Amino acid sequence: MQNQRHTRHDIAFRHATIVDGTGAPRFAGDVAVGGERIVAVGDLGGASAAREIDCTGRILAPGFIDVHTHDDNALLRDGAMLPKLTQGVTTVVTGNCGISLAPVTLRAPPVPPLDLLGPAGDFRYPDFASYMATLERSGLPVNAAPMVGHTTLRVAAMPRLDRPASDREIAAMQGLVGECIEAGAVGLSTGLFYPPASDAPKEEIVALLEPLAGTGAVYTTHMRDEGDHVTESLAESFETAGEAGVPLVVSHHKCSGRENFGRSRETLAMFDAARAGQDVALDAYPYAASSTVLLDAYMAKAERIMIAWSEPFPDISGQYLDDIAAEWGCGEADAFQRLKPGGAIYFVMDEADVRRILAYPHTMIGSDGLPHDRHPHPRLWGAFARVLGHYVREVGLFTLEQAVHKMTGLSAARFGLAGRGIIRPGAYADLVLFDAGRIVDTGTFEDPARPAAGIEMVLVNGQPVLADGTQTGGRPGRALRRAA
Ligand code: ZN
Ligand code: CU
Repeated sequence: MQNQRHTRHDIAFRHATIVDGTGAPRFAGDVAVGGERIVAVGDLGGASAAREIDCTGRILAPGFIDVHTHDDNALLRDGAMLPKLTQGVTTVVTGNCGISLAPVTLRAPPVPPLDLLGPAGDFRYPDFASYMATLERSGLPVNAAPMVGHTTLRVAAMPRLDRPASDREIAAMQGLVGECIEAGAVGLSTGLFYPPASDAPKEEIVALLEPLAGTGAVYTTHMRDEGDHVTESLAESFETAGEAGVPLVVSHHKCSGRENFGRSRETLAMFDAARAGQDVALDAYPYAASSTVLLDAYMAKAERIMIAWSEPFPDISGQYLDDIAAEWGCGEADAFQRLKPGGAIYFVMDEADVRRILAYPHTMIGSDGLPHDRHPHPRLWGAFARVLGHYVREVGLFTLEQAVHKMTGLSAARFGLAGRGIIRPGAYADLVLFDAGRIVDTGTFEDPARPAAGIEMVLVNGQPVLADGTQTGGRPGRALRRAA
């Protein structure tokens, strides 16, 4: 064993305030990085490093894990991943809400909401392993932990989608799921709210989850209903995961529509009750507005709607539907139909529910950012910084340690990301250095694509990807496979 005094590290973070991702209180110390790992935490003594970073007055935390993304294609297409890097995210979980880029090859335009991921030509992965290999080859600035989407499986295996899958189709999809799990997928997602996936009964999902049992892979769901029938949908989700014997993550939990404001009291009590008998968690983003494709069911629930993109009217992005309708001299419902296909931001939630759900101990932070939208919801660039700046510092909703845990340790444990989400010797050096007094989201609904303030340095697998607020161009990210 090497004498500590003669040890030379690659990077030494000195005099940091360490928030280690476990939820434990912060402590003062140094962190040394050697290669892709954290090699020492605490007092580094006489050890030196090729790169010394003075962290006085700064927080050093594990890199944030965005458990709810639609970055499947952004990782390959844009590659820079600036919306994520600039807010300290070092790992993205992809394939949420039933939609993943693999395993399917498409010649016809993808059905909504699959079209959120890109055009037909980008769906060119007949199996999950080839997608994982492409991610690895392309060189990623952040790590990616992909899931497989139920809607993608249906498109791959069913000639007609507006009905339950037949036994033969279920068998074909199970074969695909098996291959995805074998290739390292961290979970299977559904978007049962969305037609045509909404035609899939619970039994279809239970059958498709069979290959996940015992592997640690999770079932995540954008539930059939997040409004008037939110409690029925929760019950269905608990039953589905329970019957299949797999851990459950309820996606972007919310209570949509004025009539349902306040019902998070009821839904979180249901989570508590379910957790007594099964493995159940949830994710949420820190905003009272949702965002997805243009869907009538959403329009009916929204207080106000902003258009994120419209294929027939590309220049209308960022305008409110009521203004558009006034200008066109028609009703909002009419204008909404004419704007399709497209996407929107829907103001549908109660701030008190948003806070109650964020503060729930088993809630992880996920952005649900839509990277290809022309005028995206500000969550894409701001979700993590908003939790730390607005909800921790300004509102005092929970402690910094609790918030960081919801973005790191809790998330890594849930998705089986071994050696991530924690600062301790031997863990991967995914790290973020930030100023807790300054960190905040800077985007707004009107002007959403703005980098967060207060993030000073981001390391992925031991390599700086962001330094002094600027991208280094490093591509140390990996395709992460589920831990055994
Ligand atoms: Zn969703
Ligand atoms: Cu989503």
